[in-house]
Amino acid sequence: MRDILPIPPAAVRNQMQAIQQRFQKNVLPTYTRFDLVLDRGEGSRLWDVNGKCYLDFGAGIAVCALGHAHPEITRTLTEQSRKLVHVSNLYFQEPQGGLAERLVSLIGPGKVFFCNSGAEADEGLYKLARKFGHDEGRFEILTAENSFHGRTLAGISATGQAKIKKGFEPMVEGFRHIPFNNLAAARAALSPATAAILIEGVQGEGGVVPATAEYLLGLRQLCDEKKLLLLMDGVQCGHFRTGRFQSFQRILEGAANPAAAGFLPDGIAMAKALGGGFPMGAFWVRQPWADVLGAGTHASTFGGSPLACAVGLKVLEVIERDHLAENARQTGEFLKTELTALAAKYPRVVSQVRGLGLMIGIELAGDIPAFSAVDKAPAVQFINQLHEAGLLAIPAGARVVRLLPALNLSREEAAEGLGIIESIAARLSP
Ligand SMILES: Cc1ncc(COP(=O)(O)O)c(C=O)c1O
Repeated sequence: MRDILPIPPAAVRNQMQAIQQRFQKNVLPTYTRFDLVLDRGEGSRLWDVNGKCYLDFGAGIAVCALGHAHPEITRTLTEQSRKLVHVSNLYFQEPQGGLAERLVSLIGPGKVFFCNSGAEADEGLYKLARKFGHDEGRFEILTAENSFHGRTLAGISATGQAKIKKGFEPMVEGFRHIPFNNLAAARAALSPATAAILIEGVQGEGGVVPATAEYLLGLRQLCDEKKLLLLMDGVQCGHFRTGRFQSFQRILEGAANPAAAGFLPDGIAMAKALGGGFPMGAFWVRQPWADVLGAGTHASTFGGSPLACAVGLKVLEVIERDHLAENARQTGEFLKTELTALAAKYPRVVSQVRGLGLMIGIELAGDIPAFSAVDKAPAVQFINQLHEAGLLAIPAGARVVRLLPALNLSREEAAEGLGIIESIAARLSP
């Protein structure tokens, strides 16, 4: 593929190199970056500095819910920034109260704290659990194997993946991991010190693995029985990505068990799509625990600024007005059905397709011959080929290619992306 792509003119090559060299010299090398220098975007299209166009099925890892350069986000940012960008949380302001009210109405009775990222939202849940269990000497939080909860020290301690922790030991005390979707293992793992259980509704970094309805309902029952908090990390799978605001709402749809209708976790972490690209995070706490973190127990300078909350409100308004939850559901179903057919056609390339709404994982077969020559994860090699063919997607672990496009991805764009994925699968098929 590479040799049929036009070679960019020397001036552009130099610009690319100059940008990359500036990174190499001045930016900490914590990311393994793809060889792309992106310049601008519009909707689900991105352009690199060469002017090459890509269809974006990654959306900044589930962040850009409305795509790039959405005119209403731009307008809200501009108008609110003329009025009030930031005031301290020592004061009241309208947008934060409005967004909190909206989030509570989308989840259930409770209250919201605003912060700036997913890791910080999860951190709030850890503090909630600690405070909740404190007077009884309970502090331990059980999290799932293969989970991901961010890169702060508590975040990597909570994350159930050895590679994320390596080199940073000792971990923060009080986190233990249990097999995901295994209720008996959760029950068996409880100790007198356990205060909470934290899971993702759909594991994202762990390879797009949804929790089952039985697991969610079983955990709820277990937590009620043992007086534990049930906490959910909706940072990646939340905000209508699955077709409902929170993934548990989607997972429990149509569940026969009558407990499904009243299901609520006790805390939910949110970030990523909350600001549609403007950095923000939040966590919701269910009543009657919403006042456990009282005055003086938690804070964040930038959390819930008028600018962030005005954008957050606009993102929700556009999602509702443009029926994007329904689009995530329908376009996601279309993608999943077509990709499942593709897996049947090219079983030596794609072994499984799974996910909910516009959160889809394509698991690659274990022994794709064309990948054996290079010592790079198959998912990365596959994605490099997608990039060359004009499609962006996100790896999840070694063998899963993740699709997390904007919630307003059109059917035509979905079909175009599928065509690109199929062309690569056909080429790789032995
Ligand atoms: C489920 C989940 N939790 C937490 C995080 C951390 O979010 P952030 O990178 O905004 O700190 C992520 C990021 O990918 C995530 O997917």
